[in-house]
Amino acid sequence: MKISILGAGYVGLVTATCLAHHGHVVTCCDVDASKVQRLRVGQIPFYEKDLSEMVCAAVQNRTLSFFDTLDEAMCADTEAVFLAVPTPQSSDGHADLHFVETAVDQLIGHFQKHPMTQACVVVTKSTVSVGTTARLATKIADAGLSRIFMANNPEFLREGTAVSDFMNPDRIVVGADSDVVFTKMMAIYQPFLDRGVPLISVGYAASELIKYASNTFLATKVAFINEMAVLSESVGATVQDIAKGMGLDPRIGAAFLSAGPGYGGSCFPKDVSALGAIVGDNGLSLPLVGAVSVSNEAHKAWVFQKIMRVLSGVSGKRIAVLGLAFKANTDDIRDSVAISIALQLVVAGADVTVFDPEAMSNAQSVLGDSVRYAATVYDAVTEAQGCLVLTEWPLFCDLDLRRVYHLMADPLVIDMRCLWDRQTMSDLGFSYFPLGTAV
Ligand SMILES: NC(=O)c1ccc[n+]([C@@H]2O[C@H](COP(=O)([O-])OP(=O)(O)OC[C@H]3O[C@@H](n4cnc5c(N)ncnc54)[C@H](O)[C@@H]3O)[C@@H](O)[C@H]2O)c1
Repeated sequence: MKISILGAGYVGLVTATCLAHHGHVVTCCDVDASKVQRLRVGQIPFYEKDLSEMVCAAVQNRTLSFFDTLDEAMCADTEAVFLAVPTPQSSDGHADLHFVETAVDQLIGHFQKHPMTQACVVVTKSTVSVGTTARLATKIADAGLSRIFMANNPEFLREGTAVSDFMNPDRIVVGADSDVVFTKMMAIYQPFLDRGVPLISVGYAASELIKYASNTFLATKVAFINEMAVLSESVGATVQDIAKGMGLDPRIGAAFLSAGPGYGGSCFPKDVSALGAIVGDNGLSLPLVGAVSVSNEAHKAWVFQKIMRVLSGVSGKRIAVLGLAFKANTDDIRDSVAISIALQLVVAGADVTVFDPEAMSNAQSVLGDSVRYAATVYDAVTEAQGCLVLTEWPLFCDLDLRRVYHLMADPLVIDMRCLWDRQTMSDLGFSYFPLGTAV
């Protein structure tokens, strides 16, 4: 099947590559011409495990190609166009849909100039507010495009494991309002359905809401265990014990019960906020939905206060920050709590040295010359009077801790990801403050 993907970001590029891998002939179009140029020569614009090899293989097989204009990317017999453009948070908390609107306007212009020879489904894969896909369907119908249909197909991949998540989904959700569309979407995903992946066929609104409800539920789990970390410190418990004791109950599950400095990233904050806005738009007040981001903000503030308390202030002190990406295995720093903590430390007068295995160049665009950039963890901790661990990179678990101890001026570690054993750290001589443990 011929498929076009608009947007060559984390979702678009992974979707394009994985669909090409399944035998579809895919064109991927991005308005960023330099990104397209780099993709054509095999340079992946972000860090994602296994993606580079798969892109190169698909390009070589001629099942994947890249374009910077819609007209080049589309054929008269393209059967589906996936929109994988950004939907950032707008100032009033709603999803900002202007990238989606622009892409659909461009598509309508294209379809009017170049009539399609068969039915084509335009799929909102971007996370869009409830009501968006239906509204876009009306817009397309009003433009007289009787062969063009709309579907919503939310994406659940996680950065860091995006390829594996896309290839092995727990479920595929399709929102549509006609059998033509469901049939076409099933044909796209047939190789997945053949492997027993369940397909949830629902209306547009349910499909759009499933995505927001899923992300907000996961964010709720994170916010909840973070609150338990705060409580654990007061009552003399250890949050990891709490998470283990809860997570072994299959009704709860262990996933997303790792305490940390607060959730961030390109999805949870904006999606929780957008769900709250959708609730408000419908004249409702749903306290739990509203409480999630309030809890997360309170936790982030508590985390910074804890850092200041443990370090007895940071003015003039040399502080090492390990981890800048919003989570491990990605270079994404969008809404990263680590970046925000680094900036707060700078404002508080600290002399900050940062290190992240993948996110240094993205971080540089935000932190500029306000911090020093270390080439290795060991460079970062040299002469440091405090070390903060903010991202759970596996690399950090394998550090030569004895070497870290000897390099630091004051071997004090505040570990917001609970990476190391407390007894081991204490035996090595560190003053060790893991999140969620009374010290
Ligand atoms: N990143 C994730 O982990 C993730 C997971 C699930 C869902 N989502 C959702 O997927 C959507 C995309 O997220 P992302 O992280 O991939 O974004 P991204 O910023 O990484 O990529 C978006 C790309 O779209 C391009 N673009 C913008 N307008 C365009 C247009 N008119 N035509 C072609 N390209 C255009 C941009 O240049 C950019 O390269 C968002 O709605 C997001 O909420 C993201």
